[in-house]
Amino acid sequence: MEAVSASRLPFFDMNIKHFLQMSDFTLDEFNYCLERARIIKRKFKEYETYHPLLDRTLVMVFEKNSTRTRLSFEAGMQQLGGAAIYLNTRDSQLGRGEPVEDAGQVISRMCDVIMIRTFGQEIIERFAAHSRVPVINGLTNEHHPCQVLADIFTFIEHRGSIAGKSVAWIGDANNMLYSWLQAAQIFGFHLNISSPKGYEIDLSRIPPSTTNCTLFEDPEDACEGASLVTTDVWTSMGYEAENQIRLAAFEGWMVDAKKMARARPDALFMHCLPAHRGEEVTAEVIDGPQSVVWDEAENRLHVQKALLEYLVIGRVTSDTK
Ligand code: CP
Ligand code: NVA
Repeated sequence: MEAVSASRLPFFDMNIKHFLQMSDFTLDEFNYCLERARIIKRKFKEYETYHPLLDRTLVMVFEKNSTRTRLSFEAGMQQLGGAAIYLNTRDSQLGRGEPVEDAGQVISRMCDVIMIRTFGQEIIERFAAHSRVPVINGLTNEHHPCQVLADIFTFIEHRGSIAGKSVAWIGDANNMLYSWLQAAQIFGFHLNISSPKGYEIDLSRIPPSTTNCTLFEDPEDACEGASLVTTDVWTSMGYEAENQIRLAAFEGWMVDAKKMARARPDALFMHCLPAHRGEEVTAEVIDGPQSVVWDEAENRLHVQKALLEYLVIGRVTSDTK
């Protein structure tokens, strides 16, 4: 194993690697992390002790609720031999107006890696710019890269390479969709997107050169020939005030058996969870044979352990099984 450094960084290092959005990693880095996730998952299943992050500390900062993200990062860090500390805005100074730049300086002096779930992407960017250690995006309004990495790992486990495949996104143009869009560019798959009027993607947020996505007015048409159909809640965290109006606007965008029937017969269904049966997806689909939502949730643990290992100690070269 190659250790990145023998001592903690004395100064701020401009070259610190962060994972704030999918586009922060190259395909080579993703392929490395996905292979590490496979190995780390096997070790977990076989109760093989693996402590590459002994004496390392992860600080997790939550400004929004979470079940899966907190659990998978906290359990994952412990399983790698390290410790995880949970902070939230309700009972830390972060909720009382301490500048995010100051928080970045202070928190990063006491740990080896930081995960943040917050509102605007610019908050995590500013935090990372003042951090001495790697920062991981555990969800912002704009991106949810850890989830999409877990979803791609899950797709590969079930169906092999995602390159060249079609993925249908049915619903809100939210954080998950923008991470899927970046992933499509990097991994070389196609996105079929269908969102209701007023909730479509903001084309100014994607590079003009993007050729591997197609927009559909009809969500059933978007599912045609897809190898994966995926959706998410109609109202993301932070947008609760719009819930009633969104319920009306998204009528017709529920993923149901009719939409799944337009996809390939071997198509998978994914949802990052938590889900609302009877809104964005029927119980028949999410609890049916094409759904891999529990694998997706579990795989958060394995891919994030690979991510933590990569960001904290770099590439491991002597552990390939
Ligand atoms: N999918 C996901 O990020 O779940 P949590 O909000 O429970 O962390
Ligand atoms: N788009 C959802 C994902 C939750 C994991 C949200 O931001 O609330």
